[in-house]
Amino acid sequence: MVFGRMPAIARSDSQTMKTAVAVQTRAQTKAQARMSGSTNSPIPSFAGQLEQYHAIQAEIRAAVDKVLQSGWYIMGEEVAAFEGEFAGYCGVTHVVGCASGTEAIALALMALGVGPGDEVVTVANTAVPTVSAISMTGATPVFVDIDENFLMDVSRIESVVTERTKVVMPVHLYGQMAEMDSILAIAEKHGLRVIEDAAQAHGAEYQGKRAGSWGTLGCFSFYPTKNLGCYGDGGAVTTDDKDLYERLLMLRNYGQEKRYYHTIKGINSRLDEIQAAVLRVKLTHLDEWNQKRRQVASWYERAIGDACMCPTQKRDAHHVFHLYVIRTTDRDGLRTYLRDAGITTLMHYPVPVHLQEAYRDLGCRVGDLPVTEATAGEILSLPMHPAVTEEGAEYVGTKIREYFSKRGGKR
Ligand SMILES: Cc1ncc(COP(=O)(O)O)c(C=O)c1O
Repeated sequence: MVFGRMPAIARSDSQTMKTAVAVQTRAQTKAQARMSGSTNSPIPSFAGQLEQYHAIQAEIRAAVDKVLQSGWYIMGEEVAAFEGEFAGYCGVTHVVGCASGTEAIALALMALGVGPGDEVVTVANTAVPTVSAISMTGATPVFVDIDENFLMDVSRIESVVTERTKVVMPVHLYGQMAEMDSILAIAEKHGLRVIEDAAQAHGAEYQGKRAGSWGTLGCFSFYPTKNLGCYGDGGAVTTDDKDLYERLLMLRNYGQEKRYYHTIKGINSRLDEIQAAVLRVKLTHLDEWNQKRRQVASWYERAIGDACMCPTQKRDAHHVFHLYVIRTTDRDGLRTYLRDAGITTLMHYPVPVHLQEAYRDLGCRVGDLPVTEATAGEILSLPMHPAVTEEGAEYVGTKIREYFSKRGGKR
């Protein structure tokens, strides 16, 4: 497969995704009825969790039943086994399971002792939880602009580093990793720690090394639509640092070193046995699913042609296409046209975090992050999951080309 102009993307917050899936189902049903009178439509669904469940139903049911029959539901064998297996997969020594991706980031920051008065450098074109986790610790998020791949523009990091900066937190958005070699070099120069937000990048690689294995700590979400998702909420922190690992084990479990003896102040953020059992099954399929996502991306790229801007893949990157995000200055017109053809699209993310109402106190203004702000008005996420068919991708690509040819070729 040739990745000349390959895709990149991100995911919505939980509620948006749930709503989108419901809306998409209704829109698809209507369009299918209009176009063929049949339910065997080529139109791909947006996230494909149900298709995936049906494909592995027997394995999942057996794994869940085993936990139910064990009588042990929190912090048991399944969590320990998953942590070991996911550590092996990511290429790190330790993994600590926790309750969500948001809390994975918060726990990672807490483990480093980040708190009020500290600054964390990150990006604003991300799922809001990247930033809410920083706020949870009392630290201040500081934003840098992005490059043409929607990833942290490493050339801008040093301009925002102050004596209060403690951490740089790149986001591997849409399934593609940020330039970790440059980020680590800058962090080392300024004495900073690096936390990877890898919530959208299970199995992604940069220079042959997996997401979660570059920074001091890596944070994953197992929200159901993620490349590796469970059937509820879940998350994990990766690290090679034994001290941080031991601290994380306590932090996620009320700060206790042994039962009822609390060494530090912690929270309850545990991955449960059922979700861990589900993740163990799904982890064995992850590489195959990621490969299918890459195949879907190549079908989209071929089908869309030069009708609008397809995502690009960085040199040295192994992109796992959590999302497939195209870019056009006529985004809203295209979105309406695709909706009328029964194709669900989403925007990841329509409002960058620095311009969100909730973060007004940071004092950011329109114009602070010009590339981030321009892309927010032009991005459109197409249906992406391993079960999208070639016919489905072709159908979406044809509709996109059709729209722009009717509009006189405007991109
Ligand atoms: C980039 C990014 N960071 C953090 C999170 C938070 O993960 P969770 O929803 O599991 O809390 C998400 C999830 O949407 C995400 O996409």
